[in-house]
Amino acid sequence: MQTNKGKPEGALTQYITGFEGGESTLKRLIASAIDIKANLPLYMAERPLAGKVMTSIFLNPSLRTRTSFEAAMHKLGGHMVALSPGAGSWDMEFEKGVIMDGAKAEHIIEAVGALSSYSDVIGMRAFSQMEDFAAEMADRPIHAVADHARVPVISLESACHHPCQALADSMTLHELFGGQTQGQPFVLSWAWHPRMCGVAVPHSALLAAARMGMDVTLAHPEGYELHAPVMAQAADLAASTGGSLKVVHSMDEACKGAKVIYAKAWGSPLDYGDKVAGCARNASHKQWTLGARHMAMGQDARFMHCLPVRRNVVVEDAVLDSPASVVQQQAANRMWGQMALLIEMLGQGAHQES
Ligand code: CP
Repeated sequence: MQTNKGKPEGALTQYITGFEGGESTLKRLIASAIDIKANLPLYMAERPLAGKVMTSIFLNPSLRTRTSFEAAMHKLGGHMVALSPGAGSWDMEFEKGVIMDGAKAEHIIEAVGALSSYSDVIGMRAFSQMEDFAAEMADRPIHAVADHARVPVISLESACHHPCQALADSMTLHELFGGQTQGQPFVLSWAWHPRMCGVAVPHSALLAAARMGMDVTLAHPEGYELHAPVMAQAADLAASTGGSLKVVHSMDEACKGAKVIYAKAWGSPLDYGDKVAGCARNASHKQWTLGARHMAMGQDARFMHCLPVRRNVVVEDAVLDSPASVVQQQAANRMWGQMALLIEMLGQGAHQES
């Protein structure tokens, strides 16, 4: 079977972790996103994605990812088709070798083969099932798509990574600090939530901040450790960029001196396979709601969150509705970052600043 490994050398054929293409690619994407944001009418006139089709498979709900990709494709001259397997398209099987005598009518192998005939890029959102932490961190569904696609593949959030959110967050941090992110104090804090959430956003936010050379403090209650290989990657990035990484178990301790506080809920890896226990563990840490008093401990700190966010559970209204909140800037940057990514992957004749 022909796969996307056959794409021309040098072309970005995947965006699954956000590290494809290396540091120069990230810098180019941020610069391009900022240029598109400043010059949208020029890009809309040039239509660098004219005739291009993106097909997106959403196994989970989305507001920002789906809409920002649809808007990006449309404004740049292309088109996006969004599929919701099980609700308008066939429910999909991902495992190899299964006997498909249940509810799932279509295997990803045939689905991606067909979609590759119609599309220039395929996106997929496949959250964690919250059943087996170690196994799910391998992100088998998105890799199954990449293995069988004949076109580039973009993760729209998997169990382990949310690279497009990280791209928008990296752009937002770049804007907040005028590009001078090196050594700036960044806090990623766990927050309480009534349900078990995945670790993709905290993983990608942690890696983004470390990659930008920030002094990163990760705060969470004991038992909420992130995936060890991701922690090791963040430590390596901090070492190579001149930043730092430390872990504390107190929101108060973490927020002292912070310039950015990114709050996010995630489920304990100890509770994958037992959501009742996971929700109960979360509820035992209800004091981990980010409030105005935490923001006041920082240095004119900005509040970040990927959205959607549960008001007065993850974060108080007083923070979310304050000028310190940059959540709408992050959400808006999803579209600019993804425009840059799509042009990088698919575009011809994209606008360049002279
Ligand atoms: N941040 C984010 O991915 O939002 P959606 O889940 O609404 O796409």
